[in-house]
Amino acid sequence: MKYSIYTIGCQMNVYDSEKLASILNSCGFDRTDDMDKADVVVCNTCSIRHKAEEKAYSFLGRFARIKKKKPHLITVMAGCVAQQEGEKAFERVPHLDIVLGTRAFERFSRHIRAIQSGSSRIADIEDSAMIYESLPDSECFEGNQVSKFVTIMQGCENFCTYCVVPYVRGRERSRKPEHIIEEIRLLADSGVKEVTLLGQNVNSYGRKEGGISFSELLKKINDIAGILRIRFATSHPKDLSMDLMHAVRDCEKVCNHLHLPVQSGSDVILKKMNRGYTRQYYLNKIDELKEQCPDISLSTDIIVGFPSETMADFNDTMDLIRKVEFDSIFAFAYSNRSSAPAAKFPDQVGEKEKLDRLNLLLQLQEGFTEKKNKAQIGKTLEVLVEGKSSKKHDGFVPLEKNMEQMTGRTVSNKIVHFPSARVNIGDVVRIRIEEAYPHSLWGYPEFD
Ligand code: 5AD
Ligand code: SF4
Repeated sequence: MKYSIYTIGCQMNVYDSEKLASILNSCGFDRTDDMDKADVVVCNTCSIRHKAEEKAYSFLGRFARIKKKKPHLITVMAGCVAQQEGEKAFERVPHLDIVLGTRAFERFSRHIRAIQSGSSRIADIEDSAMIYESLPDSECFEGNQVSKFVTIMQGCENFCTYCVVPYVRGRERSRKPEHIIEEIRLLADSGVKEVTLLGQNVNSYGRKEGGISFSELLKKINDIAGILRIRFATSHPKDLSMDLMHAVRDCEKVCNHLHLPVQSGSDVILKKMNRGYTRQYYLNKIDELKEQCPDISLSTDIIVGFPSETMADFNDTMDLIRKVEFDSIFAFAYSNRSSAPAAKFPDQVGEKEKLDRLNLLLQLQEGFTEKKNKAQIGKTLEVLVEGKSSKKHDGFVPLEKNMEQMTGRTVSNKIVHFPSARVNIGDVVRIRIEEAYPHSLWGYPEFD
């Protein structure tokens, strides 16, 4: 019996899908990438924007026909859309067997067995004591073995007015440090070199539980043998402490890179978004960061077309982008989510206007991304090798026998392609950067 998992959405969903895979493994199923061969099909869904939600429904809709030919097929909707919709999901997807909310994973194997023994469809969006703790550790390492995600906390209580996360992921909850450290040790033992610590608001880690702080957790993970790089996402500007800046500066394995979503450069919009900071506060934090951690690479999230956003508000965002000069940005057109308060805000911005603003923003950022990438030419950067490169560089000439084009990332998270016959996945190599493109760098390895 085989299972297949299709993941939509953020890194936390990628991590959750591994947990789902591990549960299905322990139920005696084997993984297959071929959906047609699967006896259990899971769609791990995302509801952050309308488009992601529609993707989940269109994926699951395909199985109506397949199920007619293969009645024993079990179809599962897991994750954020499942949590949001509960039983209602059966109205749009009548052939669905299990709706599994974000905090119901603990009971997944029981539901699978119930369906196998003839039970009718099940929707479980109940809470569990603490997600992840009672589950087996990541034991099914698929794909990239070098770099792994580790969820350290989930949920959010910031209640930004556009966001569904507090409703679909629930209140903020942090995992116990000893469980996180144990999991990372196991990953390190299996050859993993880089971990990305995940949470909707990682820098408020442990605050509610009164345990160790996020900076202290970083220091502990910094001591784990075998791990070479530590990344984390996402940080909230309002909780960015000097302590955390010092941890990034002082822990040699913590990458000199910060993803710090600003969402908007307009004070009026930031207030309506309930972000809890002003534009000037954000700019001051960036100045402090650049002072404490010189050369830090910065990325951000931006929403354009939030209800009532005027051209003047939008221009404030453009101006902030010019001031900070991010290495990269993730920009989104505001998507109306009925469970989030902003859905009822007046003066919703038209779809065309949103897309026009999005394009202007992306165009502006392209110049900065290119400038940042070009500034790397001539430098020698440490690259953690992730695998063979799928794209061949035009000027690629195999100088040695068995030479292949490899790919990896710099500390600042930039993708680097390079030719080599001598490196292995998981090695850290020094690459002299020769060329810069909008989304990647290209260079030659320097060996001692
Ligand atoms: N519409 C558009 N973008 C959104 N995000 C969150 N909610 C919405 C929404 N309703 C973006 C934010 C967040 C990122 C993960 O997704 O920028 O930081
Ligand atoms: Fe959503 Fe705001 Fe929480 Fe981020 S901080 S998950 S945007 S509510």
